[in-house]
Parts: sequence; C-alpha cells; structure tokens
Amino acid sequence: MSVKERKVSESVSETIHVVRPNHLNASGRLFGGILMQWIDEVAMLVSKRHTHKNVTTASVDQLTFLKGAYQKDVIVLSGKMTYTGRTSMEVRVDSYVEALDGTRILINRAYFTMVALDENDRPAPVPRLILETAQEREEWELAKKRRENRMK
Ligand SMILES: CC(C)(COP(=O)(O)OP(=O)(O)OC[C@H]1O[C@@H](n2cnc3c(N)ncnc32)[C@H](O)[C@@H]1OP(=O)(O)O)[C@@H](O)C(=O)NCCC(=O)NCCS
Repeated sequence: MSVKERKVSESVSETIHVVRPNHLNASGRLFGGILMQWIDEVAMLVSKRHTHKNVTTASVDQLTFLKGAYQKDVIVLSGKMTYTGRTSMEVRVDSYVEALDGTRILINRAYFTMVALDENDRPAPVPRLILETAQEREEWELAKKRRENRMK
C-alpha cells in the first residue's frame, strides 16, 4: 500500500553487534570499514521502513569517528530519518559502546543520503516525513542546510 506520509518514530531502527577478533584492525581496534558497513545497513533499514521500497546509498555526508572500540565491546547503532526530499532521504546513525550497566558512549555519528528505487531501479517518490517534536524539526532544518551545501 502506498502511504503519503510517515512519522520519524515509525522507521527508527537499532542493531547490536559484539566486536569479535575478525572485526579488528592491526592495532586491535574495531576496523572503521566494518563499522561503516553496520552503519550503512541501519541507514538502509530505516529508509526501507519509511518507504516500503528498495533503496540505495547515494552519499555519505559526514562520518565522524569520535572514539575507538575494542574486542568484546557491545556496539549499538541507532538510526532515524531526519529529512525527506522527493526521492531521497537523509538518515542519521549514531553508534555507541554500551557498558554492562547500560551506559552508552557515542563513538560515531553519520549522515547518509538514501534514494528510494522503483521496480526499474529508478528513483521513486518517498512518503513525506511527519515531524512531531522540536528536536525532529531542528534535525530537519539542519538536514536541509546539509542538502543545500551538497547541491552547491
Ligand atoms: C543514487 C542514484 C539512484 C541517483 O540517480 P540519478 O539518476 O542521479 O537520480 P536523480 O538525479 O533523479 O536524483 C534522485 C535523488 O537523489 C539525489 N541524489 C542524486 N545523487 C546524489 C548524491 N550524490 N548525493 C546526495 N543525493 C543525491 C537527488 O538530489 C534526488 O533527490 P530528490 O528527489 O529528493 O530531490 C544513482 O546515482 C545511483 O544508482 N548511484 C549508485 C548507488 C549505489 O550503487 N550505492 C551503493 C554503493 S556500493
């Protein structure tokens, strides 16, 4: 069923990974390429839930590695829709190390532009984003500025 608009909360997605030996780089930290794959998967999940369509990654605007992660760390990735255009969407993905007591430390923040695809693999219209909170409206304005900069 084709829906014209969806709330931010309807596509919020989380995935969890445990850092294993095969995820480490030569320095014994979580390899950035592995984290980028996990982030890309969350961005895909969020945008598929928003559009109910196939999607593809068009660009990565910002990918900030704030802290390292190590073997046995529990990594929580949390993604949400920040902006919708005609066929493209921006998704923010925050990655955390979660301690045994549940405390989360932010290790990465990324903004991905995803594009919805029709059955011919061409860009397809996406549902409008319903903004319900002041934070969602603020995210939208910042995403709009990022989009304008990208267009330049
Ligand atoms: C992304 C892709 C589908 C866009 O196709 P296109 O023919 O350029 O389509 P359009 O010009 O109609 O653009 C469609 C939308 O994508 C946006 N877009 C296109 N290229 C973009 C880019 N590099 N960064 C951000 N947004 C982009 C446009 O602004 C437009 O958004 P809007 O409809 O919300 O205004 C096409 O470039 C593609 O398939 N790229 C490869 C994607 C891929 O394989 N990703 C996986 C990497 S391994």
